[in-house]
Amino acid sequence: MSQVNPILKLLADGQFHSGEEIGEILGVTRSAVWQTLKRLLPAHFEIQAVRGRGYCIPDGLELLDGMMIRAELGEAEAQLAQLEIIESVDSTNRYVLNKPNVESGFALIAEQQTAGRGRLGRSWISPFGRNIYLSLLWRFPEGSASLTGLSLAVGVSVARALQLYGVKGINLKWPNDIVYESQKLGGILLELNGDVVGPCQVVIGIGLNVHMPAALSTGIAQPWTDVYSILRQQPQRNRLVGLVLRELLLMLPRFQKFGLASFRESWQQLDALYNQPVVVQSLQEQVFGIAKGVDELGYLLVDTKGKLQRFSSAEVSVRKSI
Ligand code: BTN
Repeated sequence: MSQVNPILKLLADGQFHSGEEIGEILGVTRSAVWQTLKRLLPAHFEIQAVRGRGYCIPDGLELLDGMMIRAELGEAEAQLAQLEIIESVDSTNRYVLNKPNVESGFALIAEQQTAGRGRLGRSWISPFGRNIYLSLLWRFPEGSASLTGLSLAVGVSVARALQLYGVKGINLKWPNDIVYESQKLGGILLELNGDVVGPCQVVIGIGLNVHMPAALSTGIAQPWTDVYSILRQQPQRNRLVGLVLRELLLMLPRFQKFGLASFRESWQQLDALYNQPVVVQSLQEQVFGIAKGVDELGYLLVDTKGKLQRFSSAEVSVRKSI
């Protein structure tokens, strides 16, 4: 169920609405409308207020809709325990990690994150109503050792969803960036609770740039893109997030049975760095070499003057070297 503020729902149609009209439609006084808008406006720069015309979100927004999302799931719906849609949260990953008694297959999607988390302690820019912020919890009774390579399998699922949506030319940059023509389109953040040997649960967090407001682009420290810039069409966020969820829900039981082995070849076909000169950065050193895909555990392989070295994503980051 979506908990989005009714005024935002009304303004999502992209038309101007006066305070009076909003009050009439929602059955509240003008002053109540104004009080709510006063609270919403500082956080919702997408709302325009024009004297004499009222309020509007230019071009409108497709707000999240549980029915539309479920319509994309097909046979994968059997794996979904619950779908929660929320207007605003600090981080969908944090929310799901801390929620008590969550069933495996619980998914949370937010319209906005106020403290979205990225890899390596970075933040993830998460404006209202524009992009995708999804977290899915999955339990692994066999322990965290069985999760090796999961983030690569998640990358393959997200790439498949984007392809089904109509985005061609998606690549994956180790360990888990979704890229298009060397620009970052999305990211994956796995966070776990539990044991190496005993049962554990993982929260799979996915952020996808769907239609990032240009005003926020200065906050992103690397080249990036969004689905809107690639396809030049008004994005259908519900369809896209539904496809992502579908691919994840289909992938997870298969991953539990066969592990990375069942996804490694697909990952290598999408590998943005394969045979490229790269620099691998750890706390202690920089290593230069040629990227050679991943091994059976999902470690990055780099040819350094004829010697093949392996790197774990927990320890290093990698970029193309020029
Ligand atoms: C990266 O740094 O590339 C990973 C970004 C992951 C962002 C997503 S958005 C949904 C989920 N909740 C978070 O706080 N982070 C992940």
